[in-house]
Amino acid sequence: MKKKLQVEAICKGTVIDHIPAGQGAKILRRLQLLDSELRITVGFNLPSEQLGLKDILKVENRLFTTKEANELSLFAPTATINVIEDYEVTRKFPMSTPDVLEGGFDCPNSNCISHNEPVEACFRVRKQDDDIRLKCKYCEKSFSKDIVAGI
Ligand code: CTP
Ligand code: ZN
Repeated sequence: MKKKLQVEAICKGTVIDHIPAGQGAKILRRLQLLDSELRITVGFNLPSEQLGLKDILKVENRLFTTKEANELSLFAPTATINVIEDYEVTRKFPMSTPDVLEGGFDCPNSNCISHNEPVEACFRVRKQDDDIRLKCKYCEKSFSKDIVAGI
């Protein structure tokens, strides 16, 4: 028997599932989803076998770019991106923590040479306890992910 969905199914768009609880709101902000007029349904702190509690975001009529998926992987390495067409899941992309993160984020160090050179910021990614730390390739300073993401 198909169990009842915790958040109503969508017809077409993207479902980001298995987001660690507490990260869903950050993703909405970071991807500026609330500035759009897209229909978005969210579930925060839903029970999850895998995570205990999870957040879920359902964005109608919207696909995510590779750059956005990279950003997502930082906040929600456990997440799955599901593409929905005609009420069916047509593609599923599991996220994972990248080793290197290029583009999308600027180095928080205002003295970093990456700001004066025509280069994309680039960080080495390292998990540390519950946090993810990012080390800039150019100035070699290390930052917490929330600092880099500016949230
Ligand atoms: N979903 C949705 N609308 C649809 C189809 C699916 O919102 N028309 C959502 C489901 O609620 C679920 C996610 O998309 O959160 C993935 O759907 P599905 O692959 O059917 O669920 P699971 O098998 O539980 O996925 P997983 O194995 O990734 O946990
Ligand atoms: Zn730097």
